[in-house]
Amino acid sequence: MEIINVKNHIEGGKIAAEILVKAICLKPSSVLGLATGSSPESTYDALVESYRRGGVSFECVKTVNLDEYIGLPQASPQSYHYFMWKNLFSRVNIKPENTHIPNGLAENPEEECTRYDKLIESLGGIDIQLLGIGHNGHIGFNEPSATFTDGTHVVELAPSTIEANSRFFSSKNEVPTRAITMGTEQIMRAKRIILLAFGEGKAEALHHALCGEINPVCPASILQKHQNLTVIADEDALSKM
Ligand code: GLP
Repeated sequence: MEIINVKNHIEGGKIAAEILVKAICLKPSSVLGLATGSSPESTYDALVESYRRGGVSFECVKTVNLDEYIGLPQASPQSYHYFMWKNLFSRVNIKPENTHIPNGLAENPEEECTRYDKLIESLGGIDIQLLGIGHNGHIGFNEPSATFTDGTHVVELAPSTIEANSRFFSSKNEVPTRAITMGTEQIMRAKRIILLAFGEGKAEALHHALCGEINPVCPASILQKHQNLTVIADEDALSKM
């Protein structure tokens, strides 16, 4: 595991973007596993910056997102579809057909999970997975539970996640209670993982994830077993290490 201690999320985003740009230059058809939330925003800004300077092309890049809320239309500003188009896809030359996000409006969410697993397999797996971490140690929407999960599945969101994510909605009651997420084992199959953590609010979860017992009570703790994990975090997020 490599830990890069950065000044702030801007510097962290630049470093994460550099890693992604290098990977895309080496393999233009890279499959990127992407995340939402505030943690990866500065990475997306830095990627766009690099694209505008001519440092990278997304022409052949393929993306698969970690998760999506169940029940939110794609056009809803709180959906992860909307987030990805606003923060990255509409700002670079990626082909829409090469971007993939679970369909939270699928009539049969279980079938959608199977479709998504097959899709990731057909792309040859994920080259680099970008991750944030929830305050309760979740990755994607894998909430603390009794077991680590394998493939894409439907989850009931933890009350603390609904609370944390309600900042993006006008009220807590509007936050969907279910989501579709890639599983923890599936995330672990990515060839390389970059975990981003900024701010004091992540200190506890990051400490458990990287130094605590590997236990599904903290889903991110499974990352300790990954062969190629880079953690990019600021002083505050690393304060309990
Ligand atoms: C959401 C997402 C996660 C993300 C987490 C942390 O619940 N499903 O993928 O890592 O929030 O978000 P933030 O980066 O905004 O703290």
